[in-house]
Amino acid sequence: MSSIFDFVVIGSGLAGLSFAIRASKYGSVALITKGKIEESNSFYAQGGIAASPLSDEDSVEKHIEDTIKAGDGLCNTEVVRTIIEESKQAIEELVSWNVEFDREDGNFHLTREGGHSARRILHKGDYTGQEIQTKLSEIVRNQKNIFIFEENMAVDIITKFKFVGRKGGEVEDECYGAYILNKRTGSIETIFGKFVILATGGAGKVYLITTNPDTATGDGVAMAKRAGAKIANMEFYQFHPTVLYHHKEKNFLISEAVRGEGGIIRNKNGEPFMKKYHPMGELAPRDIVARAIDMELKKSGEDHVYLDITHLPKDFIIKRFPKIYQKCLSLGIDITKEPIPVAPGAHFMCGGVLTDSYGETSISRLFAIGEVAYNGFHGANRLASNSLLECVVMSKRALKKCLEYPKKIHIPQEDIPPWKSEKTIPQDEKILISHTWDEIRRLMWNYVGIVRSEKRLQRAYERINIIKKEVIEDYWKYYVSPDLIELRNIAITAELIIISAMQRKESRGTHFNIDYPFKNDIDFKKDTIL
Ligand code: FAD
Ligand code: SIN
Repeated sequence: MSSIFDFVVIGSGLAGLSFAIRASKYGSVALITKGKIEESNSFYAQGGIAASPLSDEDSVEKHIEDTIKAGDGLCNTEVVRTIIEESKQAIEELVSWNVEFDREDGNFHLTREGGHSARRILHKGDYTGQEIQTKLSEIVRNQKNIFIFEENMAVDIITKFKFVGRKGGEVEDECYGAYILNKRTGSIETIFGKFVILATGGAGKVYLITTNPDTATGDGVAMAKRAGAKIANMEFYQFHPTVLYHHKEKNFLISEAVRGEGGIIRNKNGEPFMKKYHPMGELAPRDIVARAIDMELKKSGEDHVYLDITHLPKDFIIKRFPKIYQKCLSLGIDITKEPIPVAPGAHFMCGGVLTDSYGETSISRLFAIGEVAYNGFHGANRLASNSLLECVVMSKRALKKCLEYPKKIHIPQEDIPPWKSEKTIPQDEKILISHTWDEIRRLMWNYVGIVRSEKRLQRAYERINIIKKEVIEDYWKYYVSPDLIELRNIAITAELIIISAMQRKESRGTHFNIDYPFKNDIDFKKDTIL
């Protein structure tokens, strides 16, 4: 079966949902998502969403300055200005979609996180993402024009050059839709769209330790790469300094807002150490805090440090951080009385599919918005709580550009072949998939993590080449399953990160190479484009 929609949205995090809600006023929307609608990085966002100016102590200019400072020389200042200038309107829109934020005396309660020079982060307790995703999903489920495909996974993007052909001299490719695997039936269908919106989020699962849920496997970047789109700045993977360290919990974040409200990072002897590394101490930009912890751990041989908020009033802690309090208590840690064991983990993909300031990629009518995209907003390092903001603003800008296209767009359906799968045989060695998956995640953690070196990157490069070759052979030999699709995407994403990191012979933002420990503006104040 094949269908044609005005908009095909792949991914149902905040970027995908906010786009779908808006676009449904103008045409039919297919919302494709590989799990349940709510499941996404967006759902787990704790700290909140940054906007300005929301108080007398803040301004758009200060927010822009903080974003550019965190981005360490690679932000596109025009994009930064555009997104931040639209931030107040983005909040108004979320509120109009029934999203609630905590208030104090009628005004929004504003919190603070690393790298922010003012309190400007709106939040709902420590479960802002859950509040947003729940409210937006409710709207999407009730829109007649939105056709929801849960448990459906995009496998590949359909483009003119790849599937119809390229006439001599033609330089601009265009997008027609995507092949979609129905995870319930195992069949792969063709879904056509006048506009395809990649909103597939990040790739935290490429690393052994991550804050990201299982959906974050780099599918969007890998699909865009296979389709021939440009990919930028993949070397900049942001590590969050404080992931709960506990054998029973694999990826629970302890929000930066905990430090924003006064939390102190201590070593095993109870000594605070962050001021030694940066004058902003616990609230230094994330890359600096993550590296400082990494360094302390290497010195002490320990595997975690502690985040201490026991000096704050018990009632305040329970009210302000209800989920963190409950989660830790369920594991036997009373955070009002004892410090929380934490260690860094992979958190946010700063690079991604290269787009213009409206989210359009180098392939016409293929858009990328949210964490999957690189539009210059975050540069070499993202400022905390700026990504939920980016999702809301960029989905609006993407739609604006879609609506500027002529109404009639021809999709040559008859020229697009159905997905071919006759040659495949049943996959009976599932264990190989999980072994290879594990191999890649360890390889990335050990050789392409918080601190990198030429030797480690070279080693990672040689190994990923062998692994990728095996994965691709398996891919074409066996029935295409969700696990195999994700494994292939993880392998491709890992390779993109490694190659980009090898090209950047300096240290900047989240990319730190001990063989090139300084920033080199003369040669490298530029994006890495693959
Ligand atoms: P996501 O929310 O990740 O959504 C991606 C969607 O794509 C999912 O629905 C997924 O299932 C789907 N998908 C992926 N691949 C496919 C495929 N092949 N086919 C179909 N569907 C697919 N940012 C902030 O600004 N403030 C915060 O407080 C904050 N806290 C965070 C806390 C945690 C624990 C994490 C992990 C991230 C946090 N971030 C925060 C970052 C922020 O949540 C994300 O960057 C942002 O939500 C990304 O939104 P998105 O819509 O681009 O992607
Ligand atoms: C957090 O709450 O620490 C995460 C905020 C973010 O990643 O923006």
